[in-house]
Amino acid sequence: MKIEIVKSRVECPKFECLIFPTYLAGKNDSLDVGSYDDDFSKLARFSSFKGEKGDELESIVADGKPVILISLGKKSEITERELINCLVKKVLVLKSKYEEIAVDIINFEELYDAKSLIYKISSELMLGAYQFNKYKSKNEKAHLKKVFLVTGKNAKMSNELNKAEVVSDAINLCRDWVNEPPNVFHSEKFAAEVEKDAKKLAKVTVKVLNETQIKKECMGLLLAVNAGSTHAPRVVHLTYNPTGATKKTKHIALVGKGLTFDTGGYSLKPPTSMPGMKGDMAGAATAYAAFKAAVSFKPKIKISCFLGITDNMISGGATTPDAIVTSRSGKTVEILNTDAEGRLVLADVLDYACDFKPDVIIDVATLTGAILVALGDEICGLFSNDDKLAEKLETSAKLAEEYMWRMPIIEEFRKEIISKVADLKNMGENRNGGASKAAAFLEKFIRDGITWAHLDIAGVSESQGHLPYCSSKGASGLMVRTLVEYLINGKV
Ligand code: BES
Ligand code: MN
Ligand code: ZN
Repeated sequence: MKIEIVKSRVECPKFECLIFPTYLAGKNDSLDVGSYDDDFSKLARFSSFKGEKGDELESIVADGKPVILISLGKKSEITERELINCLVKKVLVLKSKYEEIAVDIINFEELYDAKSLIYKISSELMLGAYQFNKYKSKNEKAHLKKVFLVTGKNAKMSNELNKAEVVSDAINLCRDWVNEPPNVFHSEKFAAEVEKDAKKLAKVTVKVLNETQIKKECMGLLLAVNAGSTHAPRVVHLTYNPTGATKKTKHIALVGKGLTFDTGGYSLKPPTSMPGMKGDMAGAATAYAAFKAAVSFKPKIKISCFLGITDNMISGGATTPDAIVTSRSGKTVEILNTDAEGRLVLADVLDYACDFKPDVIIDVATLTGAILVALGDEICGLFSNDDKLAEKLETSAKLAEEYMWRMPIIEEFRKEIISKVADLKNMGENRNGGASKAAAFLEKFIRDGITWAHLDIAGVSESQGHLPYCSSKGASGLMVRTLVEYLINGKV
């Protein structure tokens, strides 16, 4: 679906339907029908349409096309979010009916920042039009091909539209990968797809570590998680170097958990918890999508992206609980629960990332069920060893209008994951505070002098049906926008 910005509806003669949001304004709270005065004033007067919040009136206007008038209520009470949600919902309801829809937002430009309005409406329309139906033998395609945004200020908006396109395309790619089934999208395939896509990016180099190289790197924990699999593990390493980079150029590393399926291993998940575990690579897909979108804006920082990719399966060779494994860092880990595999994979990849001495590491992972218990489905858990970095990420999340909440790591949790027989164990004494204890484990693999944040997206990565532009089932692609805001605005 494409978006085009036009100055007036005359510039988009082919639209089949026009949506015109409006409000009650002035002393007598009268309906502002703008340039549609002739068409609507009388009609509105003689119908039950009062212009109250949510009231709709559809009519055929002079040029013979349907116009849907939607009132958002009193002008003084409308928020930008209400307007965007209303428009996105309406366009998406009509997406199977029309190929070209025009949305006239001229009445609202004076109320809100036009740039932000254009960016958000365009992004959310492109995200909302997303469908994953490649495995349906009857391909159900939506009709909608184009949305015209009618605004008076079109000339200066191409940057906003371009940003919306770049970021939404990356998010929809992330969604595609997360939605792919695990029998198709196994570790080798996932890594190959990332490699293929990343080769198209300017100033980016791609390296994919195969099993032999992973063994050479002594990534014992990643190999332990992969031990039961018929598919080889992969570590993808991407780097973006801006023009004129020096040793002083700031360097941010993203790290993603890429479990193409998580059965739990010998600590097997119950049957009801297993479907959906194809999405356990959402952290890696999110990290890659954010990397891809960010580098296209040519930021003046160095960005790396490290993805740890495997599935977590059972076989005669699979790792059992009680195993003690040496990590890449040299720390030994007692594996008490093979279902706490994400932190094992991340530990080795975080240690590898530290070799490249980034200033900041941000990892993204569907790490714990406990984050869902703590924060619900809608909020991303944020953990950090640095208050300033945490604040910057919180600010970026606010800008992107994504929910994020900082969670604590306390000394007691750090102590609880010390093992009696090895340096560390991969879970605490019980499930209480599980998301924080998992974060405490990751923190052990961050070297001194590197600021680090961890995003637990187990809740937000799927099924965000409360958002007009997300499906109630399937990948959401959330947190890509927050990371992009951080990477392109944030001072490191
Ligand atoms: N991939 C899961 C976490 C998860 C749960 C993601 C629900 C999405 C939805 C992770 O590997 C896991 O199994 N974590 C365990 C850890 C426990 C054994 C310490 C969990 O949260 O139960
Ligand atoms: Mn698990
Ligand atoms: Zn997992």
